[in-house]
Amino acid sequence: MKKQKNTSPETDKASDAPLLLVLHGPNLNLLGTREPMHYGSTTLAEINLALAHRAEGAGVNLESFQSNHEGALIERVHAAREQGVLYMIVNPAAYTHTSVALRDAIAGTGIPFIEVHLSNVHAREAFRHHSYFSDLAIGVITGLGSEGYLLALEYLLSKISPE
Ligand code: DQA
Repeated sequence: MKKQKNTSPETDKASDAPLLLVLHGPNLNLLGTREPMHYGSTTLAEINLALAHRAEGAGVNLESFQSNHEGALIERVHAAREQGVLYMIVNPAAYTHTSVALRDAIAGTGIPFIEVHLSNVHAREAFRHHSYFSDLAIGVITGLGSEGYLLALEYLLSKISPE
C-alpha cells in the first residue's frame, strides 16, 4: 500500500492562489484494503493525488490531512483558519457520528465545507444515519466512492472560478 503523506501549513510554500483543505478522519489511511465492499479499492494516496492534480490544473492550492486522532483533526482545522483556507472537503469518517468537538472546531472557524462519504451511510447501520456535520455543510456527497471527493472539488472550483 502506498504511504500517505500529510501536508502541513509549515511545509507548504506561501502563494496567493486560493487554498483548499481535504480532511480525512480515522481509518481512512486504510483505504484500498479496508472493507472494499463499502469503501472500494482506491487508496488514500491515490485519492489525494487525483485531487492535487485537478486542483493544480485549476491553479488552486490543495492540502490533504488524515489523522486517526480527534485532537489532531481539530488542531488542523484551527490551523486552516490561520492559513486562510477558503473551503474544505471533509470526510470525518467515524467521527461523523460521534464528534461534537470536531463539529465545534469547524463551526468555530466558519470555513465552508462539503461533507463526503465513500459509502452510502444511509444504506448502512442506523448509527451511521446521523451526522454531526451535515447541517453545517454546504452539501453532502455520500455513496459515490472516491469519485465523491472529485465531485466535491469540481463544485468548489466552480465557486472559485465561475464560468
Ligand atoms: C465513512 C462512513 C462512516 O460511517 C465510517 O465510519 C467511515 C467512513 C465513509 O466514507 O463512507 O469510516 O465516512
